[in-house]
Amino acid sequence: MHVISSIPEMISIRNSMKGSVGFVPTMGYLHEGHLSLMTAARKQTDTVIASIFINPTQFGPNEDLDSYPRDFERDEKLAREAGVDFIFYPDKSSMYPPGYASFVVPEGLDRHLCGAKRPGHFRGVMTIVLKLFNITRPTDAYFGQKDIQQARILEQMASDFHLQLQMHIEPIVRETDGLAMSSRNVYLSPEEREQAACLYKALNTAKTKYTAGERDAKALMKAAEEEIFHHSLAQLDYIELVDYQTLMPLSRITGRAVLALAVYFGKTRLIDNMILE
Ligand code: PAJ
Repeated sequence: MHVISSIPEMISIRNSMKGSVGFVPTMGYLHEGHLSLMTAARKQTDTVIASIFINPTQFGPNEDLDSYPRDFERDEKLAREAGVDFIFYPDKSSMYPPGYASFVVPEGLDRHLCGAKRPGHFRGVMTIVLKLFNITRPTDAYFGQKDIQQARILEQMASDFHLQLQMHIEPIVRETDGLAMSSRNVYLSPEEREQAACLYKALNTAKTKYTAGERDAKALMKAAEEEIFHHSLAQLDYIELVDYQTLMPLSRITGRAVLALAVYFGKTRLIDNMILE
């Protein structure tokens, strides 16, 4: 496995690659969720590139950019074990040099869920991912369902901009108690960590009602919400039931839907979702 920090070098190595190229963009501090994307890419493509870049433009002014966890040595070892061929590890000043002035913005898919709570976040995500795509020119790109709004927005970007690549959305990898793996889980105190399984419990409570025939959005969201309210350290940020394609709120489920929520434990914000269909 090689680590490449220079953009021209990454471009030139990519130009010499033959066959399919799988790409897994990350912000590092790798866990099983990231590794599942790398493993999928390893199985399905000839060469696997993973990027590690904590993208400043997707963090809000009061968010955790400065404290975002990092451990490059550990990431390197884990990526190697997962079968990654190249880690692209650029620095901030080469991705956003002085005079940098172009951004990609979503139109509509960011109106609800995290987009409503984190203004500018998906502008930063779309911009960096398009830049990374242009540098690595993957034939296949891998994203997690964990960040379902991000995955849908990027899928739409790939289609709207005629990008010549296949997008893959992989299932959410969870801890044994159901907590979705996240680099931010390390921020949780032991008490918060114990209660953090309530996001998954809440989704499952709603899912059980859905399986029993409930299709009313309010009833499903209320069932999930009650589960969160029973946890003293959990502060609900949002819970929404949206259409899978448009990410617009639904009053009743008739097709493929996503139940998504964000919950604060102190300053730590956790997200999770479940597809109902
Ligand atoms: P990051 O949070 O590091 O996540 C990188 C990828 O791993 C994303 O596609 C995310 O959905 C996926 N992922 C995270 N936790 C997961 C889990 N528990 N199960 C499955 N997949 C999981 O998302 C980003 O970075 C950034 O926004 C990025 C796309 C790299 C742009 O900066």
